[in-house]
Amino acid sequence: MVMVQATYHFPRGFLWGTATSAHQVEGNNTNNNWWKWEEEGHTKGKSGPACDWWNGRWREDFDRAAESGQNTHRLSVEWSRIQPTPDKWDEDALEKYRTMLRGLKERGMTPMVTLHHYTDPLWLTEQGAWETEAVVPLFDKFVRRTVDALKEYCTLWCTVNEPTGYALNGYVAGGVGVWPPGKNSLRLAMQVQANFIRGHAAAYRAIHQIQPEARVGYAHHYRSIAPYYAWSPLDKFVAHNFFSGINVGFVSALATGVMRSPLGSVRIPEAKGAQDYFGFNYYTREYVTFDLSRPGTLFGRNFYRKDAELSDNGFLANEPEGMFEGLKWIVRTFPNLPILVTENGINSADDHLRPRYIAQHIHQMWRAVNFNWPIKGYFHWSLVDNFEWDRAWTLCFGLWALNLETQKRTKRPSADFYAEICKENGLSSEMVQKYCPEVFDKIFPS
Ligand code: BGC
Repeated sequence: MVMVQATYHFPRGFLWGTATSAHQVEGNNTNNNWWKWEEEGHTKGKSGPACDWWNGRWREDFDRAAESGQNTHRLSVEWSRIQPTPDKWDEDALEKYRTMLRGLKERGMTPMVTLHHYTDPLWLTEQGAWETEAVVPLFDKFVRRTVDALKEYCTLWCTVNEPTGYALNGYVAGGVGVWPPGKNSLRLAMQVQANFIRGHAAAYRAIHQIQPEARVGYAHHYRSIAPYYAWSPLDKFVAHNFFSGINVGFVSALATGVMRSPLGSVRIPEAKGAQDYFGFNYYTREYVTFDLSRPGTLFGRNFYRKDAELSDNGFLANEPEGMFEGLKWIVRTFPNLPILVTENGINSADDHLRPRYIAQHIHQMWRAVNFNWPIKGYFHWSLVDNFEWDRAWTLCFGLWALNLETQKRTKRPSADFYAEICKENGLSSEMVQKYCPEVFDKIFPS
């Protein structure tokens, strides 16, 4: 049999990189809600020194990224470092971030900065964080100060990362994990989401005032959701509610100025059109079935397909088609809006699953590009193993493995695979043959 030989190329100037977040890599972020949550024993371990970026180890990791052909990196800044108390701004912290961004530029990489990635300063938590609208002017102020300090090095901004993840994991029991503040109220979750939308809209305008050429968006956690029994009206109904609770709120607000949620609608007119690109985070697909014992999640119970290929600890299922389906939904909702895949990745400590996960998802992204959908870049999660929230160090998402004690990094085969993709600006049959021959026929059918 003759093997197909081909390369799936991406448009010139495509961004290839990885994503990280402050609390997950910096270490010793003692002044935020997550540190406290860890100290209280809610997590499987503590962030501690994390990847030691705050002491400068970002340098060696940026070297690794640049040598691997990555031309961009998405990182986040830690609000509690920049504004440790409501009336104090830490200029040294801002200077450190400036140095890091300059470090990316010096390595030929385009910096992308996320302004909020799950963590809140403790002083904000004490005021109810995102539960009340009072957060909006506070976030606006923080964003202005930060963007003003970093604007020399960055024009690509992500206001908030996965606000729905924050709201559901923190406010709906039975969610993916238990996150701070560990409350149980769907109503509060929707309120939190609405305030994130308001905060995003304020930040969008603030950034453009300071830097007219800025490109501003947020990172949306797209979860593919399907009814378990496609024929069942009840399963369809609960799946619809799940889809709406997870995916629709932010998207509807940006598309129409009205946030739609399973609990009703909220008018947020200032949100309409407040984005220059759509930030798309994709990991997996879930199935939902009707279950009377689950009133807290509107009678939906979610799980992975029985025969799905699961990652370590059953955390994620490898469901590449969900990525294409999600991109299609976004393109239909926001025609012509550029899209960045701001996160995609899998936890696989021994790396047996990651190469094919990468190949299959990049293949789906390539299919989307071939419909001329305006996808401009891809950020793999993540560069190096980092603190994985409630699961702490039990899930390994890095292209490089991390030994927390010694801080030694060890390259996984996926790092070489991804480097070949970045350098080629495409995925070739030779690469798939070399790193994950088991999915060759799926990606290059003869
Ligand atoms: C989050 C990351 C997290 C990753 C893997 C994403 O939803 O933005 O912070 O590490 O998922 O769980």
